[in-house]
Amino acid sequence: MSHLGLARSAPVCADGGVWLTCIACGERFAPFDAIRYTCDDCDGLLEVRYGDLPTWDDFEGAGVWRYAAALPFDEGVSLPEGATPLHDVPRLESELGLERLRIKHEGMNPTGSFKDRGMTVGVRVARAVGVDRLACASTGNTSAALAAYGARAGIETLVLLPQGKVAAGKVAQASLHGARILEVNGNFDTCLDIVQDLARRGEVYLLNSLNPFRLEGQKSIGLEILEQFRDEEGCYPDRIVLPVGNAGNTAALYKCLRELRASGALAPEEVPALTGVQAAGAAPMVEAIEEGADEVRRWEHVETRATAIRIGNPVNAPKALPGIRETGGTAVAVSEEAITRAQRDLAGEGVGVEPASACSVAGLRKLREQGVVDADEQVVCLTTGHLLKDPDAAARAGTEPEPVPGTTGGVLDHFGEGGGG
Ligand code: F0G
Repeated sequence: MSHLGLARSAPVCADGGVWLTCIACGERFAPFDAIRYTCDDCDGLLEVRYGDLPTWDDFEGAGVWRYAAALPFDEGVSLPEGATPLHDVPRLESELGLERLRIKHEGMNPTGSFKDRGMTVGVRVARAVGVDRLACASTGNTSAALAAYGARAGIETLVLLPQGKVAAGKVAQASLHGARILEVNGNFDTCLDIVQDLARRGEVYLLNSLNPFRLEGQKSIGLEILEQFRDEEGCYPDRIVLPVGNAGNTAALYKCLRELRASGALAPEEVPALTGVQAAGAAPMVEAIEEGADEVRRWEHVETRATAIRIGNPVNAPKALPGIRETGGTAVAVSEEAITRAQRDLAGEGVGVEPASACSVAGLRKLREQGVVDADEQVVCLTTGHLLKDPDAAARAGTEPEPVPGTTGGVLDHFGEGGGG
């Protein structure tokens, strides 16, 4: 049985109305007295809990820290982050045959991905507990965000990346922000195993999504989507579709929805269906949903051009699987071709995203074709990372540059030849 219910009476270990609860055994811990990422008793995942849960009137300002009333601190190490656009995509909306489709473009955060929302809180907590070295395993975006926020906080940063499998823009970011980059001979899951060992030995402070505080920051994606959609459309969306790797973001959105339900800010029928999308070559969450399993089976071999979600062992599955099920959502796997098609479709409406991000739209298309998503639904697709994160994938998916002579006549002749482009 999992302990995902939100009891409101603060235990004696609470600090300022904040504590940690193990979702597996229910044990509770003080939030900042010691560094722990999982339960001391059973190694289950921890969740941040609050004595007071806010409603819409408690939020003010813009960006992640607008939602300070739902976070463990009033301010963080900020660049600043959040307040990302909710784009209209009228051509895609009509092609997919949906009543409404909006794109929440998280690629517009300071380092170009949603990870910044988690880091502004996570690095703030690192300061509170007093650590001197931050670390993460990453398919790229987490490392770029941690490098930037670590630099901002003036704390040494170490990142472990799967060798040869991280998109160029992300490595460049980690590098210029001054992180030590260790290229591991193994995939992301191996990197995460190693960095967890380092954290257990006290060598580093872990800022992967196993760290429950990071997910607190990522809750703000859900809060922003709901507020923006309500203000512009007059209602809440029926469904939120997102790419899934380690399932941290799915867990964060589910926590956001549970807290809004518990505070009374959201009625039961207003809760959007969380819908996860994975690449077919790395789809252990989809497998678990399809089989009705309570746990995911670790895939040892994973492959996809959506390198950000090339993950075989989604560690947040115990928090995310119930979220997909209880909100009436689902999970779906998409092909490599479908990912690139969706990346082109979004780019064709001016929205530039990396391959993993395009999975949300590719998944939505597949679910529309299967009749799982109805034409009368109002849907938000999350696009998690910016196009420039993976310039090689963008260039492969886009038009070819055409060499031309350095004269107007030569260029005109080239047009005349039907050079295209
Ligand atoms: N989209 C992008 C662009 C990502 O970078 C990630 C995860 C996800 C989706 C999946 O999110 O793991 O919360 O389910 N990237 C991590 C990283 C693993 O290291 O940057 P998730």
